[in-house]
Amino acid sequence: MASGLRMAAPLLLLWLAAASGSLYDDFDFVGGGDAGGRMLDNGQLIALSLSNGRGSSFHSKKEYLFGRFSMQLKLIPGYSAGTVTTFYLQSGGTARDEIDFEFLGNLSGEPYVVHTNIYVMGEGEREQQFYLWFDPTKAFHTYSLLWTPRHILFFVDGTPIREFERAAPFPAGRVMRIWGTLWAAQEWATRGGRVHTDWSKGPFTAYYRNFLVESCRRSPGGAATAACRELDAAGRRRMTWVRRKYMIYNYCTDVGRFPRGPPPECHRRHH
Ligand SMILES: *[C@@H]1O[C@H](CO)[C@@H](O)[C@H](O)[C@H]1NC(C)=O
Repeated sequence: MASGLRMAAPLLLLWLAAASGSLYDDFDFVGGGDAGGRMLDNGQLIALSLSNGRGSSFHSKKEYLFGRFSMQLKLIPGYSAGTVTTFYLQSGGTARDEIDFEFLGNLSGEPYVVHTNIYVMGEGEREQQFYLWFDPTKAFHTYSLLWTPRHILFFVDGTPIREFERAAPFPAGRVMRIWGTLWAAQEWATRGGRVHTDWSKGPFTAYYRNFLVESCRRSPGGAATAACRELDAAGRRRMTWVRRKYMIYNYCTDVGRFPRGPPPECHRRHH
């Protein structure tokens, strides 16, 4: 029995999920260890810092084609105006595919904005933005990107906030890496760039932990893993509620930007 258990565990991990043992095994810092990124707690925690205009970033050692990618983030507390903390998927090449979570900082006491976007062959312009229903600087919260051949879903603590159904163009042909970055985007981050970073309030630090990749490959039984399934009715209701209450920008309804009508994917069911 004991040996049966030992056999079963690795198979499950292989098919369903690869929880990170140590973040050292999964990620490399860009520019090496001195550039503002640090591993803490024996590789259980990554700290990215930004000071005097110098940001930091890490990316996965591996490349992935589809899957559900989750990480817990604790964002910069207090003053974070002009800063952008990110968790995203990105392909190589010049005209990139990207699936982005970007967290736009703010003045102390003012709310963070979650900015989401999808790039295909270097073309983005599919922004949707949200406020959160909690303070993302007080504790770790889980942000997940689900990328399948048929759709993309963004989750916050398991709650779906955005669905992008396959339409042409769609990122499906190229492997991507996972990235985490902290940088300053003064010209657009906070209140459309009207509030700039006050470097005397730095260094700014954001934390990442509990990286999880769940494969979307079908198990031998043929069923999609639970993590990769499409939303059920309850999930859809929850997403509708969040979007009604917390969405603050949707490119699909930005008439000024698309005078001849929004892009084709906006005509799908859930936009
Ligand atoms: C920052 O706070 C202001 C005022 O509450 C708000 O309008 C804005 O959406 C917040 N976020 C950003 C990124 O500007």
